[in-house]
Amino acid sequence: MQALLEQIEDKYRRLGQDPETYLKGLLHTRPLTYWDYIQVDTLLSLQHPRTDFPDEVVFIVYHQVTELVLKLVRHELDQLTTGPLPEVAVFEEKTQRLVRYTRLLSMSFSIMNQGMSREEYSQFRLALAPASGFQSAQFRYIELQCTPLEHLIPPQRRSAIRAGMSMWEKFQLLYWQDAGYDRTTGAKSLTLQQFEDHYLNSFIELAQRMERNNLYLRYLALAEQGKGTDALRSALRLFDYTFNVSWPLVHLQTAHTYLGSGHEQTAATGGSHWEEYLHPKHQKRIFFPCLWSEEERAHWGEVEATSP
Ligand code: HEM
Repeated sequence: MQALLEQIEDKYRRLGQDPETYLKGLLHTRPLTYWDYIQVDTLLSLQHPRTDFPDEVVFIVYHQVTELVLKLVRHELDQLTTGPLPEVAVFEEKTQRLVRYTRLLSMSFSIMNQGMSREEYSQFRLALAPASGFQSAQFRYIELQCTPLEHLIPPQRRSAIRAGMSMWEKFQLLYWQDAGYDRTTGAKSLTLQQFEDHYLNSFIELAQRMERNNLYLRYLALAEQGKGTDALRSALRLFDYTFNVSWPLVHLQTAHTYLGSGHEQTAATGGSHWEEYLHPKHQKRIFFPCLWSEEERAHWGEVEATSP
């Protein structure tokens, strides 16, 4: 006990503080509770349905759960993409975490696909336009942290990339512009306009920071030093596949469940040509292309059987 008191005294003296003040403070602080620490009351006060349909609460809570899990993904990515190049064991361990978080999202999507009444969904969705999950910025931050911007431009449009192009110009070529940008008229949907007004500057700032530090380049740097293990490669492949194929496929399946398909298709709240836009075989987002064979890249997103 005496040694502990001396360490505490030493800590505060080094900070130029009087240790006695802090020890006296301890006498008065309340013991910590679960609800204060986890902020349960705040968390449970954040659901504000716009209609009285009970399943709208399922819809809101599941989106919020997704955003929290995406926060965990970004938390790991922040550590992997800033500071010195991580040791391979750390890289491997954190990539395994990325796989777990992303699997959680992909496997739990049945909560959306099977867990709401279609009748209720078709009613409450009318009160949500023009908002769309498309406007989830965390998905975009994750992409920008994982791979160079060029990989987020569809292969058929990459020839338009010119030396000296500004970040803003490159952003106009990104795959996600296809959800709301009419390239012939130059018009953007309200959903896309609002999204860019709110987030584009922060996307560009992150893309600039990631130009030399994204996860793909960091993996390549490790591999160049002969440190790229099989375990790391297979974890990165699994993460790439789960984030860019498995999740988009269950999400697309859910859009079919609620919005129909073909001639029976209903317009989405974000107004995209969603049936084509959302399919991973059209988007061809691949974070770590050198980890896939030419054949695998060519058939990206076509069949679940190509899973790693
Ligand atoms: C009933 C459930 C859902 C349906 C029917 C649905 C439908 C759609 C549709 C049609 C789009 C295309 C954009 C548009 O025109 O609005 C879209 C985009 C998107 N949604 Fe959902 N969605 C559902 C649930 C979710 C959930 C739970 C999330 C998690 C946050 C989410 C995240 C996204 C994202 C990130 C995009 C953009 C995808 C991309 O750019 O590739 N969606 N959604």
